[in-house]
Order: sequence, then C-alpha cells, then structure tokens
Amino acid sequence: MNLLSLNPEEIKTGVKNTQLTITVFGMGKMGLPLAAVFADAGARVIGVDIDKERVKKINEGKNPVPEEPGLAELIERNVSAGRLRATTDGLQAAKEAEVMIILVPTMIDEHGNVKLGPVLDVAEKIAQGLEPGNIVITEATMPPGTTESLIPIFEKSGLKLGEFGVAHCPERTMTGTAIRDIRGQYPKIVGASDERTLQAVSVIYEMINSKGVIKMSSIKAAEAVKVFEGVYRDVNIGLANELALFCEEQNLDALEVFNAANTQPYCHIHRPGSGVGGHCIPVYPWFVMNLSRRETRIIRAARVLNDEMPGHMVELTLKALNMAGIAAKNANILVLGLTFRGDVYEFRKSPSIPFIARMKEWCENVYVYDPVCGESDAKRYGAKWWAGYEDMNVVVIMNDAREFKALNLKEIGAKMRNKIIVDGRGIINKDEAKREGFIYMGVGRT
Ligand SMILES: NC(=O)c1ccc[n+]([C@@H]2O[C@H](COP(=O)([O-])OP(=O)(O)OC[C@H]3O[C@@H](n4cnc5c(N)ncnc54)[C@H](O)[C@@H]3O)[C@@H](O)[C@H]2O)c1
Repeated sequence: MNLLSLNPEEIKTGVKNTQLTITVFGMGKMGLPLAAVFADAGARVIGVDIDKERVKKINEGKNPVPEEPGLAELIERNVSAGRLRATTDGLQAAKEAEVMIILVPTMIDEHGNVKLGPVLDVAEKIAQGLEPGNIVITEATMPPGTTESLIPIFEKSGLKLGEFGVAHCPERTMTGTAIRDIRGQYPKIVGASDERTLQAVSVIYEMINSKGVIKMSSIKAAEAVKVFEGVYRDVNIGLANELALFCEEQNLDALEVFNAANTQPYCHIHRPGSGVGGHCIPVYPWFVMNLSRRETRIIRAARVLNDEMPGHMVELTLKALNMAGIAAKNANILVLGLTFRGDVYEFRKSPSIPFIARMKEWCENVYVYDPVCGESDAKRYGAKWWAGYEDMNVVVIMNDAREFKALNLKEIGAKMRNKIIVDGRGIINKDEAKREGFIYMGVGRT
C-alpha cells in the first residue's frame, strides 16, 4: 500500500480494516502501549525489540510493563485477535510495514552527548525494508535536527526523500498514564518532511488521539517541542530547589510559601525535592546545552543544582541525626524509594543511587525499601534490603510511592529506634510528624 498516494478516508479504512501495517521499534514502557493502542484501533501492528524474553511474553499475550494501567487487557485482546505481534526480526518487520515508528532509547553519555546507537541500528534496518510510499516516524525524543540527519541512512534504500516520508511525532507521556495520554490527554505534535506526509501522519494519529494533532512547520520544530517540555520542567524544578534552599536558610516553610504564591495566576513554582531522575527530564537539557553555541546558563545552572539535591539530602540526614545526638557511623538509615519515581520500576538516574553512595561514606548501615523492588535491586545499588521500620534511627523519603504517601507515622514511630524523618518529596504532614514526636526535616522545610 502506497500510503503517500492515499486520501484520508482510504488511510482510515486501511487502519480500521487491518490492511495497514505499523511496525514499532522498541517495545518498552512507551513503545508497547503505543503499539497496543494502534492495534486496538484496527491496525496490523508488529512490535520489534532486541529483548527475546519481552518479545516472547508479548506474543503469549502477557504484559511486561505491569505498572501501566489498562495495558494488560489491550495486549491480551489484540494479540489474540491477531492484530499485535512481536518479533526480534527488525528487517522482516520493516519489509512488512507501511509505517515504521522508532521508539528506542535516546540517552546521553557522561559528557551529555546523545547516544544514538539504538536509533541508528533501527534506521539501518528500516533502510533495508523501505518501499515507495512508506513513512518513517521518530517518536523517541531527539535533539532538534536528529531525525533529518537520519534521512541519508533511509536513502541507502535507493529511494529519495519524497518517494518515502519522514516525520517526528514525540511521545508526550510517562509510565503510569501512557495509554490515557496516547489516547488524547494532550494533542499529538506532528512535524513532517512534506505536506503529503504531514497529512497522512496526522490522519493516523487523529484516529487514536481524541485531542487531535498540532501540525508543526518542520520536523525540527516538532523535536524542539518535546525537548523544551523537559527543559521547562528541569529548570523550574531547579528554581523550586533554589528557593527551597533559601527557605531553609531563612527558617521558612517552602511549601507554605509556594502554595500561597501559586494562587497568583502567573506564578507556577514547582515542587522542590531530593533530585531529578529518569531518562527524560535530566537528559533533555543536554540536548540543548550540547547543541547550542551559547552558554545556556540558566539550563546548566538548574541541571547542576538538581544533581546536587541527593547530596543535600545527605546533609539533611546528618543534621537530623546530629540533632538527636546520634553518631552517623552507628546509625541505621532506611531509604524509602530506590526507583526514580514512585511505583515505576525504573532506576535510570534515580537520585537514590547517589544518595546511597554518599550516605555510605558516613555510615555502614544503609537500608532501602521500595514497594516495586526486591533484595537484589537493593544489593545492586549498594544498600541492604529492609521491608520494615524496626531498629531504624532515621527514615529518608526519596520517592513518592503511594505507600509512602500513606505512611502511618504512629505505627512506624512505634517500631523505630528513633523518630526521625527526612522528607525529600514533601509528602509528610510536618505538623502531624511533630505531634507524633518526630524530628522532621524536609527539602525547604527544616
Ligand atoms: N519513559 C518515558 O516516560 C518517556 C516519555 C516520553 C518519551 N520517551 C522517549 O521514549 C524513549 C523510549 O522510552 P521507554 O520508556 O519506552 O524506554 P524503555 O527502556 O522502557 O524501552 C526501550 C526498549 O527498546 C528496546 N531496544 C533497545 N535497543 C533496540 C534496538 N536497537 N532495536 C529494537 N529495540 C531496541 C529495549 O530492549 C527496550 O525494550 C526514551 O528514550 C525517550 O526518548 C520516554
């Protein structure tokens, strides 16, 4: 099927009647929900991944991303209907598809340079399967200009751009709300290599996204949208952290001040905290910093400060122990939260990892508990596993898991050796903690 020669009605019919094949490269936390939603809309979908176990699981109709609500039933329904299947054979999957979506990781190295290895690998496979009228879409977040830099690889197919189309449609979601978001929490951003591609891609996404699409003037502009969303978050969290540290100096409660300030419609101070993790927000600022010819001082300063927050959590913990007259080297420290975000099994750039490493310079007994982790995860990151509060001198909250938000202070206080809580997520009621006899320290709330 030559997608670029079809009118919108023909494209819609192609999707609804399972005549159009979409291959999604990367069956991770983002790629799999997208593939499942397209299959549910009627498309024939092939998911490609290098992880054999993951591929096997999907083909058995099982869900490898249990933290994604609604995904299990979408996989089960569409695998059994024959609309969704997975494979490790990217070449064959490229040959069979009219639309190819790249949703593999784009990470950075220790200097902040983007690592495009997985994207380039997929692009080479696509080139070998590309046919006239096909469309290649990048959904993985890209430094502006990256998608167009892949065009010479696609042209190794012998086709020239125009005979096939290229687009960037960034994934604007996160684990836990992926299906809701893909289906229309926000409009889809679309930037394409030409008008026909823009039209065709818009029609396809309008079929799954109830909020429709925003058509951008270029691929590069579409790339910038997603990158800027991440930069905005990082810089604003940096600002919140800066103001929170000022509140600590001035003996102010940052959350009290921020909440009151935010009643003014032009003020949106974010939440301060124990650090910024995951493979999005701490990564995307580098896409701008390393590409820009300018100094990008604001972005850089926020990045530095956000990276310093796990160290600040160590300082708060030491301060709290000191206030209670406990020598750090003898203390039992319980870290609540090992993953970068509550209830999501993802460790990339988790602030808990540097926190544990820094804390261990002061004391031997650093324990960790996280409802989505186990003993082997704790060991991997240098902590001991402790799913309880007994004998602990201090509890340090590093992520916002639902279980931590509902902590029963009376119950845990009765089990702990000392009642000390260091709250890196602002999720504990400070007044209640004090009433229960805790020493309470929080970011911006000492
Ligand atoms: N996770 C998020 O919240 C989020 C949000 C918005 C955008 N994104 C973008 O989506 C990208 C993917 O994120 P994710 O959360 O799905 O990552 P993930 O780590 O959960 O999944 C990536 C998948 O790609 C597979 N993979 C790696 N190299 C491959 C290759 N060469 N060929 C085929 N498969 C390969 C991996 O095995 C893995 O299953 C991110 O790097 C980012 O650019 C992520």
